[in-house]
Amino acid sequence: MATSTNQAAWLHKINTPLQVGVAPLPTAGSGELVVKNAAIAINPLDCHMQDSGVFVQQWPAIFGCDVAGEVYEVGADVQRFKKGDRIIGHAVNLVSGRPQDGAFALYTVVLAGKAAILPSAISFTDGAVVPFALEAAVCVLSLKAPGVAMAGVPTPALGLPYPSLLRPTPSLGKMLVVYGGSSSVGSMTTQLAAATGIHVISIAGAHNFDFSKHCGATQVFDHKDPSVVEKVIEAIRESGRHEFVGIFDAIATPETYEHDLTILAKLGGGHLASVHPPPANVPDNVKAGMIFAVNDIATPVWRDYVTPALETGKLQCLPPPTIVGKGLEHIQDAMKKSKAGVSATKLVVEL
Ligand SMILES: NC(=O)c1ccc[n+]([C@@H]2O[C@H](COP(=O)([O-])OP(=O)(O)OC[C@H]3O[C@@H](n4cnc5c(N)ncnc54)[C@H](OP(=O)(O)O)[C@@H]3O)[C@@H](O)[C@H]2O)c1
Repeated sequence: MATSTNQAAWLHKINTPLQVGVAPLPTAGSGELVVKNAAIAINPLDCHMQDSGVFVQQWPAIFGCDVAGEVYEVGADVQRFKKGDRIIGHAVNLVSGRPQDGAFALYTVVLAGKAAILPSAISFTDGAVVPFALEAAVCVLSLKAPGVAMAGVPTPALGLPYPSLLRPTPSLGKMLVVYGGSSSVGSMTTQLAAATGIHVISIAGAHNFDFSKHCGATQVFDHKDPSVVEKVIEAIRESGRHEFVGIFDAIATPETYEHDLTILAKLGGGHLASVHPPPANVPDNVKAGMIFAVNDIATPVWRDYVTPALETGKLQCLPPPTIVGKGLEHIQDAMKKSKAGVSATKLVVEL
């Protein structure tokens, strides 16, 4: 039988194009899977890593977070998966620094605790949009105590329950604003929050109102509307029966932070969870933190929620993928497209 060979899109130096070349075929350690990738997705983080070398611990580097494919090898102490299973998984080169943990390869090591069976009705291309955003969304919603996102910056700790498989979802009587409801992380947080019974008010582009509602937002406001802040405050006040928890800011620019703090000031404070470091010196009644989207808090969601929720449609593979091409050589082009900006889609390369 012919032995499999691996290839990867390597980063050899900061701010240079990825180069496709031979890579060692990984093996699965304890608690790990080797995945034969069928599709990988691009995240803005990948562009930061390429441009600045941030988080790169070993050169040359293979990075990338989202994989969908078949289990090629199962490590010791893994009970939930067998060779040949169709799965999606969150690859964690971001924290391990090991090239074999990067998604931009034909074969990638994924922790079994960050993987789930992909139902047969869902394509690998669709499934690849889920993993990193899913773990980010759990980190937004469910951490109970502030941890460390980076030096001097705590994680948020909204302490909300995990999403429920019940349909309809029982209401939790709470309300969350998702700023950037059409982004990958914002739309996934909207889906999970809605599946937790939280009333979501989303801020997105006017052309993405239907998309954000489809993800579970009950009301959506246009981020380009000069009155967006007043409209969001009014909507929260009108919905008096829901306790206002705070804001998840998936955009994190000076403008969105200013809006966040105005909303929070008018409503007596609350959580400000963000994808980047929040402003320093927020008022005492604002609990601000930045997510770091690799966290074992997501393990029960991976284990108990993802597959049945995908099967019933409670969890959907959104935003929908845009296929950039087939083959590792298309990843560089996909990174370029990601940098140019996307709207309510996730860039995917098929392999
Ligand atoms: N800290 C962490 O662990 C972590 C994890 C994951 C991601 N991130 C960061 O989170 C950010 C989002 O990542 P992503 O993959 O979700 O992004 P994305 O899908 O590429 O974001 C694109 C979306 O941003 C929306 N947008 C742009 N400006 C906006 C504004 N002013 N108000 C509202 N929406 C706006 C666009 O909305 P419209 O098209 O509707 O206008 C578009 O749909 C990135 O900066 C990423 O680096 C951090």
